[in-house]
Amino acid sequence: MLFNFYKNKKILVTGDTGFKGSWLCIWLSKLGADVFGYSLNEPEEEYSNFNLCNVGEKLNRVDGDVRDLDFLKEQFNKFKPDIAFHFAAQSIVLDGIKDPHETYSTNLMGTVNFFEALRESTNTKVGINVTSDKCYFNNNWVWGYRESDKLGGKDPYSASKSASEIISSSYLSTFFETKNSSNIATVRAGNVIGAGDWSNFRLVPDFFKSKKNDSQLTIRNPDSTRPWQHVLDPLYGYMLLAYKLYKDGKKFQGPWNFGPLNNSNKSVKELVEELRFYDNSVNYIIKDDKTKVEAKLLNLDISKARNFLSWRPMLGFKETVKLTAEGYLNDLSNKSPYQNRLRAIDYFEKNLNNNEI
Ligand SMILES: NC(=O)c1ccc[n+]([C@@H]2O[C@H](COP(=O)([O-])OP(=O)(O)OC[C@H]3O[C@@H](n4cnc5c(N)ncnc54)[C@H](O)[C@@H]3O)[C@@H](O)[C@H]2O)c1
Repeated sequence: MLFNFYKNKKILVTGDTGFKGSWLCIWLSKLGADVFGYSLNEPEEEYSNFNLCNVGEKLNRVDGDVRDLDFLKEQFNKFKPDIAFHFAAQSIVLDGIKDPHETYSTNLMGTVNFFEALRESTNTKVGINVTSDKCYFNNNWVWGYRESDKLGGKDPYSASKSASEIISSSYLSTFFETKNSSNIATVRAGNVIGAGDWSNFRLVPDFFKSKKNDSQLTIRNPDSTRPWQHVLDPLYGYMLLAYKLYKDGKKFQGPWNFGPLNNSNKSVKELVEELRFYDNSVNYIIKDDKTKVEAKLLNLDISKARNFLSWRPMLGFKETVKLTAEGYLNDLSNKSPYQNRLRAIDYFEKNLNNNEI
């Protein structure tokens, strides 16, 4: 029912050229949705998911900055989306330390402008803002963070995502509680992995860059644990939430965690070793992290999504790494990346049907 729902729906995606946005666009266009993308210039990285899968040919899109309020509003008014997903952001922790101004201006004003465009749009019933697990004040404890826990990221990227949450909550209570307003929510995922991500300073892309360039991999913080999850798991959660917001409205507004099962909280070193199961040609060294910005422990509590959306992660740690590694190795051997993504989505959808969530 969920998948039929997206047929012919008009969906606006900011950040369509990025890793998660491009996977969502592939999935939505496979379901027959009419997708419109809005983000900065198309990526130069030839191996990016957007370029590898020719995502630009599967949707209509414009190059635009989310800080340009008038242009963003114009696109909402022209396209008249039923649902809008806001992925566009400066998304890298270390880039936030190099250039905090760029990070704050994109991630804060991007959020404000997204909600301003939504506020003026008469057609858009749902708006989802993608923030992060890093929005929480990190106590370095073993328990998963709940949606009601304290916000307060320390480094600029994490703080910008906490601020984006506060902005969303302010827009919700001030403008989006009235009967005919759009229904809005924020979504907090963990460390998302999957083929087609070639961003800097991320572990899995670094692993496959080392493979591609035949160079040694350097890892920071080998013992830090992270909620690793395959990109399809949170994307399914976002699509399900948008559907609920569209159909049943206000009661689904607010923040939602979409993390993996507890046993997917593995250390950096465990993930690298699991990747090496698929390609042991990559060797690594461990270096001390001088920035010391990344917390050692970070888990998400997903009880809210489990109980109120009947959502749960479909892919365990081993399956997540398998799909990811096979996807990268597929791309590096020049087999059709787009077909690989469709196979992964088919596999995920079959899993869902068999498990009858
Ligand atoms: N990848 C992860 O592990 C992860 C985890 C939690 C949350 N997130 C969040 O999910 C979202 C997507 O992440 P991703 O991994 O796909 O990131 P990405 O870096 O691959 O993509 C970012 C996208 O934002 C666009 N963008 C950046 N600045 C912009 C601007 N000023 N105007 C318009 N577009 C702009 C880029 O062009 C690109 O399309 C981000 O908000 C990120 O913070 C990602």
